[in-house]
Amino acid sequence: MKTALVTGSAGFIGSFLCQRLLDDGFRVIGVDAMTDYYDVKLKERRQQRLLQNEHFRAINDFIEKPGLMMELFASETPDVVVHLAAQAGVRYSIDNPRAYLESNICGTFEILEAARTHPPEHLLMASTSSVFGANTHMPYRETDKADHQMSFYAATKKATENMAHSYAYLFGLPVTMFRFFTVYGPWGRPDMAPIKFTKAILENKPIDVYNHGDMKRDFTYVEDLVEGIRGLIDAVPVRPEDGVVEEGDSLSPVAPWRVVNIGNSECVQLTRFI
Ligand SMILES: NC(=O)c1ccc[n+]([C@@H]2O[C@H](COP(=O)([O-])OP(=O)(O)OC[C@H]3O[C@@H](n4cnc5c(N)ncnc54)[C@H](O)[C@@H]3O)[C@@H](O)[C@H]2O)c1
Repeated sequence: MKTALVTGSAGFIGSFLCQRLLDDGFRVIGVDAMTDYYDVKLKERRQQRLLQNEHFRAINDFIEKPGLMMELFASETPDVVVHLAAQAGVRYSIDNPRAYLESNICGTFEILEAARTHPPEHLLMASTSSVFGANTHMPYRETDKADHQMSFYAATKKATENMAHSYAYLFGLPVTMFRFFTVYGPWGRPDMAPIKFTKAILENKPIDVYNHGDMKRDFTYVEDLVEGIRGLIDAVPVRPEDGVVEEGDSLSPVAPWRVVNIGNSECVQLTRFI
């Protein structure tokens, strides 16, 4: 039985991924601090469902806690690590940047250090489409430049992409970074538009629309996203021996590291979405 360690396992995407991995015969170790960024009861209910499977183990603690990840990697020797735990949300990062520094930067550092000492076959980590920031070239391609982030959330995520690349290069650690595009579905996040707007409509309250609704979003259904992650788990990046990468491939020329967009590719105008 293969072991997968999933961080952010009580989160929206993490809980779906854990269920999928359990269905596929993995033993799953889930790490989640159950932060109160949104309703903790929702996280508890997602975790309760997973705990019904005897092959799921939950650790409710902070990934950035010094030594925790190292201990877990040593005792559980995971074959695959999917790192989804993060302080998410673009708006919240305006007033609460420290939460992003601690969870996203320090937390990812602890994962990388543990993976360096006890290397899994494949480390996969969540980034975001927000890293494209000021990029106006559509559709977003992984090979496009993504250097001008417009929120601290996106900046911390871009930093984790770069941190992971350095570990992949220095220690030969195979890493796949995902960039997700607005994920929706059942058990979804109450801070995101689909649930936030629906709640407002049901309560007959006005909807907060930014930029006069003049924006487009690429929505990804959570089970489609998980299908993408599942496929990528088996697509372990290999450092190209001659440094030559096929055109269009976002594989690094010097390290077993690749970044992959997982989206739907059909943008929806916000007003139409509402
Ligand atoms: N949902 C989306 O549309 C979307 C889009 C782009 C990127 N992402 C990224 O995908 C990942 C999963 O997102 P989600 O939508 O499931 O979010 P989520 O908030 O539902 O899940 C994240 C989980 O991580 C946990 N967590 C946060 N900080 C932690 C810490 N320091 N230690 C341990 N656990 C911690 C939270 O308690 C939460 O349950 C995140 O990295 C997020 O940035 C999501």
